[in-house]
Amino acid sequence: MKKIEAPIGRRQFLIAAGVTSTALAAGLATGAGIANAADNSAVPGADPNKKQGGSKCVVIFSTLTGNTEKVARAIQKGMEQATGGCDIFPIKDANPHKLAGYDLIAFGYPLMGPMLKMNVSSFIDDLRYVGGRHVFLFTTSDSGGNNFTACIPRLKEHGLIAIGWKGWHGSVYGPLGDPTPSKADGHPDKADLADAEAFGKEMAALSKKIYAGDKGLIPKEPVKEERHEGEPAELVGSANDTNEQYMKRIHFKLMYDQSKCLYPKCQRCMDFCPVYGIDLTLEPRVYGKPCMMCEMCDQLCPTGAIYVDEDQMQWQAGIEHYAEKGVTQIYKAYPKHPRFVVGYGRPYGYDPYTKEQRGDK
Ligand SMILES: Cc1cc2nc3c(=O)[nH]c(=O)nc-3n(C[C@H](O)[C@H](O)[C@H](O)COP(=O)(O)O)c2cc1C
Ligand code: SF4
Ligand code: SF4
Repeated sequence: MKKIEAPIGRRQFLIAAGVTSTALAAGLATGAGIANAADNSAVPGADPNKKQGGSKCVVIFSTLTGNTEKVARAIQKGMEQATGGCDIFPIKDANPHKLAGYDLIAFGYPLMGPMLKMNVSSFIDDLRYVGGRHVFLFTTSDSGGNNFTACIPRLKEHGLIAIGWKGWHGSVYGPLGDPTPSKADGHPDKADLADAEAFGKEMAALSKKIYAGDKGLIPKEPVKEERHEGEPAELVGSANDTNEQYMKRIHFKLMYDQSKCLYPKCQRCMDFCPVYGIDLTLEPRVYGKPCMMCEMCDQLCPTGAIYVDEDQMQWQAGIEHYAEKGVTQIYKAYPKHPRFVVGYGRPYGYDPYTKEQRGDK
């Protein structure tokens, strides 16, 4: 099989285009179970009246399926070794107004296309009192690519000084539609996490040196990544797209069929949505307002009540585009895709996908 490089935006297009949809078919996890693996997870929330932790450095991460969280925790470990303590918060729990007092902020998120996703973007918008402080970026992605060139200028607007950035591969958990094998499969692995730990340690040491006066150690900003050859702009989108523009570009449409919805017995989608875009306590029910096109509600819904309408999408164009390039292992896109206990279920204790489950023929 001909391997392709996965450019930034390719997977987002395919996933958002409905080509990649898989979902949990069985078993209703509790809301808490879901939340534990997501942005709104694990780490105790911020005290609104105080700085959010006791350390001089902090790791803030966004994660949908757990890869970036693994890297974040490894980075925290490394930073702790260098500084003696380091706080950590999922982005949903972190308060961007309460970062004053942190000398060094590690900020990480998964790559989901060229633009910053809404949760990351609005967190940056809300940053306060961090002028002159240091930040470094980390990411996980299928391609190994990043969109730091879109992120760093935004952080700079708040006076943050970027002292480093690094990305790791992160396996994808909803892979219908993705060429395989992917070089991200199995990542981040042990070696990645050891590397992330070393990187955290290195960044903490570098930050100290820069504060001590060695400004020459501040690296030059990364240059803009080139578009991968042959990648049509309309599929890739632009780092400058707004959420709404991107949504329109890929014809993203979230659907909800209340007759299939198990709420209040189930509230997976509400618990998970990274931008609090689903509120089923309201009539008429609110979904996708706002929406950052992560598709996680579609992936997690046990009944298909909430789903991304792939008929609205350009997925066929995506398939044709890769077929033309000789990529033969594009997974079959189902008009009504079967809902598997695969993929995104992995962080929640479900079995990893199999080829059969993925619909690989
Ligand atoms: C909606 C969506 C869009 C994605 N878009 C891209 C992309 O454009 N480029 C890429 O290399 N990986 C992309 N990925 C893959 C993720 O970046 C990768 O799996 C990452 O490790 C997920 O991190 P997490 O487990 O912390 O959520 C996308 C994943 C999702 C769910
Ligand atoms: S509404 Fe669904 S697709 Fe949109 S951000 Fe929330 S979980 Fe993701
Ligand atoms: S839409 Fe699906 S995930 Fe959300 S509450 Fe209803 S059944 Fe559960």
